Parts: sequence; C-alpha cells; structure tokens
Amino acid sequence: MRTQVGIVGAGPAGLMLSHLLHLRGIESIILECRGRQYIEERVRAGVLEQGTVDLMIETGVGERLQREGLRHDGVWFSFGGRRHRINMAELTGGRAITVYAQHEVVKDLVQARLAAGGQIVFEVDDLSVHDLDSPLPKIRYRKDGVAHELVCDFIAGCDGFHGVSRSSVPAGVIAAYERVYPFAWLGILAEAAPTSEELVYTYHQRGFALFSMRSPGVTRLYLQCTPDEDLSAWPDDRVWEELCARMRTEDGWAPAAGPVIQKGVTGMRSFVIEPMQFGRLFLAGDAAHIVPPTGAKGLNLAISDVRVLARALEAFYQSGRHDLLDQYSTKCLRRVWKVQRFSWWMTSMLHLFPGDDGFDHRRQLAELDYITSSRAGMAALAENYAGLPLD
Ligand code: FAD
Ligand code: DHB
Repeated sequence: MRTQVGIVGAGPAGLMLSHLLHLRGIESIILECRGRQYIEERVRAGVLEQGTVDLMIETGVGERLQREGLRHDGVWFSFGGRRHRINMAELTGGRAITVYAQHEVVKDLVQARLAAGGQIVFEVDDLSVHDLDSPLPKIRYRKDGVAHELVCDFIAGCDGFHGVSRSSVPAGVIAAYERVYPFAWLGILAEAAPTSEELVYTYHQRGFALFSMRSPGVTRLYLQCTPDEDLSAWPDDRVWEELCARMRTEDGWAPAAGPVIQKGVTGMRSFVIEPMQFGRLFLAGDAAHIVPPTGAKGLNLAISDVRVLARALEAFYQSGRHDLLDQYSTKCLRRVWKVQRFSWWMTSMLHLFPGDDGFDHRRQLAELDYITSSRAGMAALAENYAGLPLD
C-alpha cells in the first residue's frame, strides 16, 4: 500500500491532520489501534480555545459544535469562600472558550473523513515505523491477523503519550523535559443540571476542585487527589461531600448532585520533547508533549501542531519547499512552551503541594487576589486561557 502521509493514531491530532490535508488535496491514511466506538466514547477534555473553534468552523466541521457547544465569555476563580469572575471576552477583544467534549470533536472529524472517502483503519495491531530518515518511510502493522506495509512520503506520529512513534526515534536524537506532579484529578460526569453557566476553578485548604459541564443536563467535576488514588475508596456520596466541602461559597453556591455516569483518575505531568521531528517522522499532540489538565490545553495544543504541519506539507507538495517542514518543530515549540508555562502556573497556583506551609498558602492567595483584581493580571490570564493566537 502507498500513501502520501501515513498517520498513526485517530485522536484529535491525527484526525484533524488528515482532514486539513484532504482540504489541500493531499492523501493520507490513518492507522488506529482502537475501534471506532471506543475512540468516539473516550471521555477526556472538554474546553476548546477560540482558535480551535474557528479552525473547525472554517474547515467545515463546526456545524454541530456551533449548535451544541456552550460558549463562555467568562471564567470564575473561587477562594476564601468567594467567587470572582474574569470577563475573558471583554479583556481579549471578543475571544472566548467553548465547552464541547473531546469525543464529540472526534466524532465530527471521523464522520467528515469517512464522508469524504478518507481511510481510517481501526483495530490495527503490532504497528511499527521504519526507515524514518529515508525518502520512503514505512509503517508495518497487522489487521485481522494479516501483515501489511504502508509506504509513505511522510509519517505523522499522532499516537499520544504511550504511542510507538516517539520511541522509534534513535537514542540521542530527542531530549525530553519533564515534571511529574505529586497529585492527580478524580473526575466525574454526573446527570445534574450545571449550577453555574461558566467554569469555576476552586482553591481550598482541602485541595483543588473544578466545576465544569458538558450540556444543560450534565455536570463535569474534578477534585485533587493522590496520584495512586483508589477509586473504590470514593463511593459517589463521598465524592459529592468532598466536592461540596471544597466548592461551597459564602453565598451558598455549590454544585447540584445527580447520578454519576463516569468516574476516573487522571495523572498530571508536564512533558516536552525537542525536536518534534526526525527525518520524515513528525510528532504532534500528546506524542510530543503533555500538559497538566489545569488550563484545558492538551487538545488545543494537538490541534495547533497539526495546523502547522498541514501548512508545511502543503508547501512541500505545491512547490517542493522543505523550509517549512524543517522549521516544524521550532515553530510548534514556541507555542508549546508558552502553553506549558501557563498550565504549570495554573497548576502551581491552584493545588496543594505536600510540604506546603503558611507561606505557600498566603502566596497562592495573593496570586489569586492579583489575577482577579488587577486588570493586567486578569488580561494575562484571559489571553492565555482563551488561547494565544495560532500564528
Ligand atoms: P490522543 O487523543 O491520545 O490520540 C492518540 C491516538 O493514537 C489514540 O486514539 C490511540 O488509541 C492511538 N494509538 C496509540 N498508540 C497507537 C499505536 N501503537 N498504533 C495505533 N494507534 C495508536 N486535556 C485537557 O485539556 N483537559 C482534560 O480534562 C483532559 N483529560 C484527559 C484525561 C485522560 C485520561 C487523558 C489520557 C488525557 C486528557 N487530556 C485532557 C489531554 C487531552 O485529552 C489530550 O491532550 C488529547 O487527547 C491529545 O490528542 P492526541 O490526538 O495528540 O492524542
Ligand atoms: C475541563 C477539563 C479541564 O482540564 C479544565 O481545565 C477545564 C474543564 C473539562 O473536562 O470540562
């Protein structure tokens, strides 16, 4: 088999890349180890930056997003028993975030690719990448027990943090920079009407908590827990009690409880590799970097990487130019590090760290006070949260 761009992984990065390439007349095949239903139901992120929303609409995959997505012009920070609103749209000249679940983005992209005759091969096994520094790199895999080889001009490694693409780069080529945090998030989805129209990030002596939502009838909530938290120690009643203890404000605001329909623990790490390319392999999204979820940037960063890659591949196929491909990693990393900084800063400001004392607590409260009362502080938060411009 032969294609122009072989894409490993049908997450947001791989699917959006295939879609953008198709719009530029470039052929691609996506190879995914999971089934279609699995990737379309996998519960993950839920916040889209303005640039991600604009890209989906501009490229014809934003119809359902415009209908069902919840646009938020503001975001709340809660500490000392009080909520403080930051008016993002007013501070950024109209930029906002939109709540729309990652698996809905995945569904829309899968549907668009298949409707346009795109190829996504689901449930592949034993995938490996070869000859990365040759003009014809190859992807080998098995499907229904039969071995296949896909010969490509380029390979896009969009296979997430645990994928095989990154680890196929020869030792010594890539440097990794990493922080692992001493806590995690316990997240639930509940059938309960959201009691706030916008997200609420809460700092509390018992630990961080986050109020989010998915639809007018579904609330998404998170609370800081230990990295090895045992879910069986968290029956629904205990989760609600803890969420309310952290989130309830002096004016009586709290989330409304309802049947829990999903529960899970998400680890927290910051991770970046440099460079994000080797020969004809280009890594994008979680395959190249991970951010802690505070700030909701993982999905958005994956989308901004593949936008850069699609443009570079377009320049190559249209006029034989290599320069944009050569600059892929440098261009992406400028944004990646700014987003890393923001995600690390939000995480540090809002969580309890083991060993923190009264000094740390007061410093965190002072920072929260600053970013919710100074116009410059609020503007810096709003600009990063709604998303730095894509170019
Ligand atoms: P992925 O979505 O991971 O997609 C990679 C794809 O490659 C997957 O479909 C995988 O099955 C496939 N794959 C892997 N290995 C192979 C292989 N060997 N062969 C073929 N296919 C392969 N971000 C937030 O901003 N907020 C959140 O609340 C949040 N929660 C998260 C919860 C979890 C449990 C996880 C794992 C991530 C979360 N993230 C969150 C991060 C966000 O979801 C990711 O940044 C985003 O999914 C990145 O997209 P991607 O396409 O790069 O990678
Ligand atoms: C959600 C996740 C995040 O990581 C975040 O910062 C805000 C919202 C969510 O899943 O809704």
